[in-house]
Amino acid sequence: ESGKLWGGRFVGAVDPIMEKFNASIAYDRHLWEVDVQGSKAYSRGLEKAGLLTKAEMDQILHGLDKVAEEWAQGTFKLSPNDEDIHTANERRLKELIGETAGKLHTGRSRNDQVVTDLRLWMRQTCSTLSGLLWELIRTMVDRAEAERDVLFPGYTHLQRAQPIRWSHWILSHAVALTRDSERLLEVRKRINVLPLGSGAIAGNPLGVDRELLRAELNFGAITLNSMDATSERDFVAEFLFWASLCMTHLSRMAEDLILYCTKEFSFVQLSDAYSTGSSLMPQKKNPDSLELIRSKAGRVFGRCAGLLMTLKGLPSTYNKDLQEDKEAVFEVSDTMSAVLQVATGVISTLQIHRENMGQALSPDMLATDLAYYLVRKGMPFRQAHEASGKAVFMAETKGVALNQLSLQELQTISPLFSGDVSCVWDYGHSVEQYGALGGTARSSVDWQICQVRALLQAQ
Ligand code: ARG
Repeated sequence: ESGKLWGGRFVGAVDPIMEKFNASIAYDRHLWEVDVQGSKAYSRGLEKAGLLTKAEMDQILHGLDKVAEEWAQGTFKLSPNDEDIHTANERRLKELIGETAGKLHTGRSRNDQVVTDLRLWMRQTCSTLSGLLWELIRTMVDRAEAERDVLFPGYTHLQRAQPIRWSHWILSHAVALTRDSERLLEVRKRINVLPLGSGAIAGNPLGVDRELLRAELNFGAITLNSMDATSERDFVAEFLFWASLCMTHLSRMAEDLILYCTKEFSFVQLSDAYSTGSSLMPQKKNPDSLELIRSKAGRVFGRCAGLLMTLKGLPSTYNKDLQEDKEAVFEVSDTMSAVLQVATGVISTLQIHRENMGQALSPDMLATDLAYYLVRKGMPFRQAHEASGKAVFMAETKGVALNQLSLQELQTISPLFSGDVSCVWDYGHSVEQYGALGGTARSSVDWQICQVRALLQAQ
């Protein structure tokens, strides 16, 4: 006997290099716990269907607990023939309880088993990642609330645009993350569907009650078609895309902060806990944490694109290509967990330089407000934009700041300018004008904080 689960029709030995090439145990061992969980549920299903006696089921359940115990204690010994986690656990079960173990796989295939395991594993992982994501969002909102009176320049095209609250910047990233959080719940919903009882392709011929299996494993629903169930990996692709989009958001935030902590900007300083030094240049403090967050995004995208390429053009139904889904899931899950925790650490320990932020504001950033000033005096916006542009040009030509133009000079551009134009040159006054919901006025930033907190509460 070959010692393999599928050895019956084979006489020749598998080439040792092929053996290693074929095996997935090196990584799918991570599934040991959910594999046992799935098998326990399945043995209950078999008993209900009359395929196991109560005594046999108890024997199997007891044996599976033993197997789990060995994994948990690190005493589970892999044998060279253990191709994957499913083979390994069944092999060990047989060693522990004897021939009854051979009844466990009745009507089951590794095709429905592996995808059940993976869904169970990912369901748990989604909950963990969701918690870490909320932790980050909470940290950001706390910071936004504490520092909402700090003003600094907002940029478009990396050019100074308009004065904004620092909190408005923090919230712009936090709000993006709330969508990731919502999206993760959606993905989890589609992960939480039970494929067990689909067999290899055609279904289960032995009367196993899939509704019972669903309830045993606490899935939200059961898959509709056994051919689809054993071969679709939409839920994996969706998870990898979720991670990709979340990493897009995190890497953009990281990029902003990398810029903001340069000497040229000097808006923020990274804590020592999340920076490293240079082996050559003693003065250096490098934002490695943020740079790695930025770079991990590339790896995650690669996993997402890689899986899609694996799935594309596969004939129905299960093909061994699908074995390669798991490394992507494990790597991306580990990456997301680390990235979310590091991001939380970076944000919670970041120091801000309020003075530098304030000093970086310049009167030209109020040119838009100058146009709005004229609008409030009754001028159509297009004309007001033109007039303000002329003022910018006049100041530039004279080599003075925009707020240094005299009233007389402004009045040569438009007679609508009067003494109250001096109010325009106050940055605090500027941000307070943007009071429509979603804007950078204090009331609107408070509203944003409330909205995100409400989402946090609903978790
Ligand atoms: N290790 C395999 C995987 O991860 C389990 C399923 C194998 N099924 C098969 N028919 N060879 O996909």
